[in-house]
Amino acid sequence: MLEVRSLTKCYSSIPAVDKVTFTIRPGEVLGYLGPNGSGKSTTVKIITGLLEPTSGTVLFRGANIKDDLAAYKAVVGHVPEEANLYPFLSGLEYLELISRLRGLPYRTAACRADSLLRLFAMYPHRHLAISAYSKGMRQRILLISALLHNPELIIFDEPLSGLDVTSALIFRKLVSALSREGKMIFYCSHVLEVVEKVCSHVTILQQGKQLAYGRIEELKNFQAMPSLEAAFAHLVQEVDAEESAMAMVDAIVST
Ligand SMILES: Nc1ncnc2c1ncn2[C@@H]1O[C@H](COP(=O)(O)OP(=O)(O)OP(=O)(O)O)[C@@H](O)[C@H]1O
Ligand SMILES: [Mg+2]
Repeated sequence: MLEVRSLTKCYSSIPAVDKVTFTIRPGEVLGYLGPNGSGKSTTVKIITGLLEPTSGTVLFRGANIKDDLAAYKAVVGHVPEEANLYPFLSGLEYLELISRLRGLPYRTAACRADSLLRLFAMYPHRHLAISAYSKGMRQRILLISALLHNPELIIFDEPLSGLDVTSALIFRKLVSALSREGKMIFYCSHVLEVVEKVCSHVTILQQGKQLAYGRIEELKNFQAMPSLEAAFAHLVQEVDAEESAMAMVDAIVST
């Protein structure tokens, strides 16, 4: 299980993540929500071992991840917010590179890559240079590369970015299937309808602070709200969208 305790990250003494605490047990999917700049990706960078927290701890199976970061990274799969892929490699070459860096046996890696490329409809494009891929194709390669080593903990930062309807549906089913396999999943997103369908738990952040944390049903019942979207809007004091849109048009047309 992954236990995050009182995690804090400050940039120039301003907290981007402020005393965040949560637990993900095998089979659980934690939806991590919050407006732009609320600290989601900063949390992702810390729990993937890319960034040191200012204070707080991240425990995996009871041990602090910084005690053996290499061993921890070997069981984590990560789909980052931005795709940093090598444009001159083909999709298949990129997956081969990742497999080698992960130390996977050649046959296992080839077999998994082959299946995942087919499932994500990337098989026909596997020899094409990544520079020629569309945004959604790059995202699919990123998803495959995060799963190749059969990680125990999978961390998704906006995984639906650029995915078409079919790929998004496959991805949703994949998250549910992975959780049934006993994987721990951390799911960062703005797409609340999907979060409501695939996540068992949810945390809502605002300016780095945890506004809510619990099972989705508990959160909705507690707030007496019909949907996660309504509970989110109730908790996060969003601006009036209609009023803002009118003001923007006014700013353009009247000056
Ligand atoms: N390297 C950095 N240096 C200084 N401030 C940073 C740095 N990275 C992030 N921040 C600040 O930390 C806060 C949280 O950023 P973060 O990227 O975690 O937000 P987010 O919730 O992922 O937002 P989004 O929904 O836009 O992806 C923001 O105020 C951001 O400006
Ligand atoms: Mg982000």
